[in-house]
Amino acid sequence: MSSNLFRTKKIEQSILDTEEPEHALRKSLSALDLTVFGVGVIIGTGIFVLTGKVAKENAGPGVSLAFVVAGVVCGLAALCYAEFASTVPVAGSAYTFSYASLGELPAWIIGWDLVLEFALGTAVVAVGWSGYVRSLLDNAGWHLPDYLGGRDGATGFGFDVLAAALVLVLTAILVIGVKLSARVTTVVVAIKVTVVLIVIVAGAFFIVGDNYAPFIPEARAQEAGSSLQAPLIQLLSGYTPTDFGVMGIFTAASVVFFAFIGFDVVATAAEETKNPQRDMPRGILGSLFICTALYVAVSVVVTGMQKYTRLSIDAPLADAFKATGHPWYAGVISFGAAVGLTTVCMILLLGQTRVFFAMSRDGLLPRFFSHVHPRFRTPHRPTILLGVIIAILAGFTSLSELAELVNIGTLFAFVVVATGVVILRHTRPDLHRAFRTPLVPLVPALSVLASLWLMVNLPTETWLRFLIWMAVGCFVYFLYGRSHSRLGLQRKAAAGEEGKAEGSHGP
Ligand code: ALA
Repeated sequence: MSSNLFRTKKIEQSILDTEEPEHALRKSLSALDLTVFGVGVIIGTGIFVLTGKVAKENAGPGVSLAFVVAGVVCGLAALCYAEFASTVPVAGSAYTFSYASLGELPAWIIGWDLVLEFALGTAVVAVGWSGYVRSLLDNAGWHLPDYLGGRDGATGFGFDVLAAALVLVLTAILVIGVKLSARVTTVVVAIKVTVVLIVIVAGAFFIVGDNYAPFIPEARAQEAGSSLQAPLIQLLSGYTPTDFGVMGIFTAASVVFFAFIGFDVVATAAEETKNPQRDMPRGILGSLFICTALYVAVSVVVTGMQKYTRLSIDAPLADAFKATGHPWYAGVISFGAAVGLTTVCMILLLGQTRVFFAMSRDGLLPRFFSHVHPRFRTPHRPTILLGVIIAILAGFTSLSELAELVNIGTLFAFVVVATGVVILRHTRPDLHRAFRTPLVPLVPALSVLASLWLMVNLPTETWLRFLIWMAVGCFVYFLYGRSHSRLGLQRKAAAGEEGKAEGSHGP
């Protein structure tokens, strides 16, 4: 049985599967499209919302260092993702990679994990988007009733109608086709990057040197909440994590990590890329590098404009401009944030439908979901199903707890991918690798350790929720996936043929 659970799908088979006409996606993306995709999904709620909260509560002006730490963790993971994505250019990202290297059960686990990451990530960003749009509507004098503003603002019943509507509209766009969404994305990403650059360039004129003192505020023990809210590391080691100080930078990094989520989504579009061997690594590393540089610059500027203790939690970038007496800039920034979060939502949604599609094509989820639309050549069935579920989720959920769950899921995927790179080097040294992770096994080992470090800095209750989701996933696998696995059925059929052949040649 254990050999069944760890049966691996041959990489050549994965690539062949994508060429079956009824399951083939259109190959239309270039390195530039991928980079735009990456930047489109990476810059979002993280920089526009979390920067203020983290500077205020965990790191002070040192938040820029937290972005560097999180960027390094993601950079290490990106080096591993780039090797895998350029070797196995098939839809499904870490799921596909692990199927080729670690085996079916680990692949299922990672696929299930990615569905969680992308679905909740989409919902979180949709709710953040809705907040910005409501604030813009308020400026224009239109105030939506509280019960249509979601759970956070309402007493009793609350449904975030804007967040749900956004997800449904994006679902329709994705059903129509990747090329259309890539075009829409390009325009929106341009607006978003322009707004970020406005923050950096215009904001630089309002920096007051005193705001940086102290750059790393003195360490202070985190307030004890319930033990479930304490970071896991505290429960495990008795060591108390601190806010501020050098350790506070790491606590902050485990939160602002959310701002980097998305570069891995670029890998999920490998199958739709014209020249994945060359373009994948460029797309992944390029988008990550651009975003890290922008984040560090934005956080340096914003903490220089306003004392970190006074930064706003809801809209820190816009409010820093208001505080310096420039409300016009604040309006432009809110507009850019609302526009920019749209692409984040869309690409997370795209990534997750592709993982679901790949799992269903392998028979681990019903194959009904892996038929592409005859005209649009997109996996319309999982797109519509998941789009509707996420719209409901976005309507009813609150932001903060979900964001932490997204972080842990993503970091777990990083651990699996880095491990997979090393295993695949041993099991398939013959494969052509257009991009090779440098210094294997050192870089993958560092990637695993760095990801685990951020994971143990997350609250214990986040770990519990994550483990429950994974337990449900294992249940579904043993109930459905294991017996319907295409690979398993093929192996069974081949064994049957062999048995027959042996029988007919037997004495
Ligand atoms: N990185 C994305 C964001 O910050 C998910 O919103």
